[in-house]
Parts: sequence; C-alpha cells; structure tokens
Amino acid sequence: GRIGVLFGGTSAEREISLQSGSAVFEALQGLGADVVAIDLQEDAIEQIKSAKLDRVFIALHGKGGEDGRIQAVLEFMGLPYTGSGVQASSIAMDKWRSKQIFSASGLPTPEYEPLSAESDFASVMARLGTEVMVKPAHEGSSIGMSKVNAADTLEAAYHTAAKYDASVFAERVIHGGEYTVAILGDEALPPIKLETDNTFYDYEAKYISNDTRYICPCGLKAETEAQLKDIALKAFAALGCEGWGRVDFMADEQGNFYILEVNTIPGMTSHSLVPMAAAAKGLSFEQLVATVLLQTAG
Ligand code: DAL
Ligand code: MG
Repeated sequence: GRIGVLFGGTSAEREISLQSGSAVFEALQGLGADVVAIDLQEDAIEQIKSAKLDRVFIALHGKGGEDGRIQAVLEFMGLPYTGSGVQASSIAMDKWRSKQIFSASGLPTPEYEPLSAESDFASVMARLGTEVMVKPAHEGSSIGMSKVNAADTLEAAYHTAAKYDASVFAERVIHGGEYTVAILGDEALPPIKLETDNTFYDYEAKYISNDTRYICPCGLKAETEAQLKDIALKAFAALGCEGWGRVDFMADEQGNFYILEVNTIPGMTSHSLVPMAAAAKGLSFEQLVATVLLQTAG
C-alpha cells in the first residue's frame, strides 16, 4: 500500500521536521516503497484524504504533530500510523505532566516547580538550587529554554519561555552528564552520552554546532548502562508510549539517573540521536525506518 510521510507542519520545530521527514521519505524510496511526502498545513485533513494513503509515517515534531492531534485525526480516518497513540502522545508532549507521572510511578526526575508571572522567583531559586532550567512545558528542541543561576535572570527566563507556552516550569539542574536512550519496539538501544561546550545541549548544540560530542558506547559500566536502559523502558511504559521514541536523562555525580522527558517523535536528521543509536546496534537508517513502520498497528 501507499505510505504517507507527514512532515513540516506549523510548529516551532517545523525546520527540524522538514529534515526528519525528507530523510524518512528518501529511506522509504530507497526501500522501494510507494511513498508520498506531505508538508502538513492548516487543511491537513484534506491533504491526507486526497493523497489516498494506506498507512502513515509521522515525522512531525512539536505541536499538532507530536501531541496527539494528528494521531486523533488518523484514528478517525482509519489510517494506521507510526509511534504512540493519542493519549501517550499528548501526555509526553507535556513535560510538566510527564514528570508528575514519573514521580507517581517511582521513577526519578529532577525537582521542579511551576512558574507564573506572580511567582516568588527568589524562593523558587532557593528551593531548586543554584542552577535551574526554565522550560515551556510543550516545546521541543530546547526552544524557549534557558539555564539560569539567579532570581532576576529566572524571571527573565520565565518571560522568554512564556512566549511559547502558557505552561512554564523551573527544573533543578543536575550536574554529571546528559544521556539519551532510543526505544525501538520493546527494546532500548545503546545509550548515547552528550557533551557540549554551550551552557547546555540547546538548539545550536543540537542542530548547528559541529563541536557537540556524541559518545556511544557511552562509557558506563555494563551494569549501570543496563540500569539506564531499564529506567528508559519504564518511563516509556509509564506514559503509555508505543513503537519508538527517545528518553532523555541527566546523571548526577554519584551516577544516579533522572528522566527529563520522553520524545514520541524524535528527530531523524543527520545530526539526530535515534539514527546514531540504531547504527551502534548495526541498523542502517533504512532498517531503522522500516522497523518503525513495522511497529504500526492495523
Ligand atoms: N524534539 C526533537 C525533534 C527531538 O527530540 O529529537
Ligand atoms: Mg523533547
């Protein structure tokens, strides 16, 4: 049947999705599939209808595409699609609610507090420690995020994040390294350690810089690496995610891991982490795309 790759869209992560979607489209073409790529716009339903698809690979990131909305449309149209369902997509897109679920499930996540224009920024700073990350709850690719170490910059960071989202929170910064674990089917792929000279793994470090270091094998002892993979699978399951995804972590200096978030449609660009983790397992990009597609229900 005919496969539609949905990409682009109207979210703040549009540029990344254009790259992810093009790479997925080319991989499916390389595999000899009957495939069309659709840059999803306001008339998404009409676009999908007229393409006469049999199944869908969703390569959209952020609002509208990764948050359960397009998944719900595809359910109504009876079209099988890649990745998580409506509810899991929607929860995973909200980092704030995800953290509440991790905590309730006994899974470690850095301490956090909601922010509003009325927040007492000095006391939030005092409670969360000397460095905090400010995040819009529903963005990706570090858009709208800042790392701060004082109450006045915390307030400025709140206003920056609030441009992107009505829900903004502050999260304690954990010092000891950043790791990510790709999930493919029921399996956690080899973890990757990320190192950047920027103040954090921000948009520039993710997509532009050639100085970001991706370390895989990540250098953890086998037993510790197994623990990290286990927490990743538990976080994925706690949100009800399916098919594929990527779980992001910070480690402390004692080697404890803290979950930052689950990405249900992780980047598939040439700089991206899931393709890197798949390669470490001996899976080519085409094999990765084919495997994600095979997870599609229906
Ligand atoms: N949100 C970006 C695409 C990622 O997680 O890879
Ligand atoms: Mg994300």
